[in-house]
Amino acid sequence: MSFLAEPSDVNFGGHVHGGEVMKWMDQIGYALAVKYSKGYAVTKFVDNINFMSPMKIGDLISLNAKIIRCGQTSMQIEIHVSSENLKSGVVSENCSCEMVFVAVDESGKKRSLGANSIQSK
Ligand SMILES: CC(C)(COP(=O)(O)OP(=O)(O)OC[C@H]1O[C@@H](n2cnc3c(N)ncnc32)[C@H](O)[C@@H]1OP(=O)(O)O)[C@@H](O)C(=O)NCCC(=O)NCCS
Repeated sequence: MSFLAEPSDVNFGGHVHGGEVMKWMDQIGYALAVKYSKGYAVTKFVDNINFMSPMKIGDLISLNAKIIRCGQTSMQIEIHVSSENLKSGVVSENCSCEMVFVAVDESGKKRSLGANSIQSK
């Protein structure tokens, strides 16, 4: 996922708001979980959020997500956020976290990942 940090993303210190970064991480985790599980999935658990350096408005933000473990219904996803200052070309690693998403059916009940249920990738 790549996009420009917009003025509406700013916090009181002039950098990108931490809550906005968490929303982006949830969005990319959701996209990967739904794509992988071929159906709806919900956020179950968030761990190890590390804000390493601030992002500035106008930076090109990039998020990368990968599945590091699958259970019967759950997907453990590692997410990294980086940013590029487009004027200088300097790229910084800004944030990382781990999230667990659970595949659910239309009624919100857990559903099996079936053939996609691989213990580790
Ligand atoms: C998601 C939900 C259906 C799961 O039901 P549940 O009975 O609580 O689920 P379980 O405790 O059996 O856990 C389900 C899976 O998540 C895993 N899991 C649960 N807590 C975990 C944790 N802290 N760390 C890692 N994995 C975890 C379990 O190991 C299990 O994995 P598996 O089936 O692959 O073995 C239910 O908790 C729910 O609806 N939660 C609300 C979700 C939500 O509103 N999210 C925010 C908006 S999207």
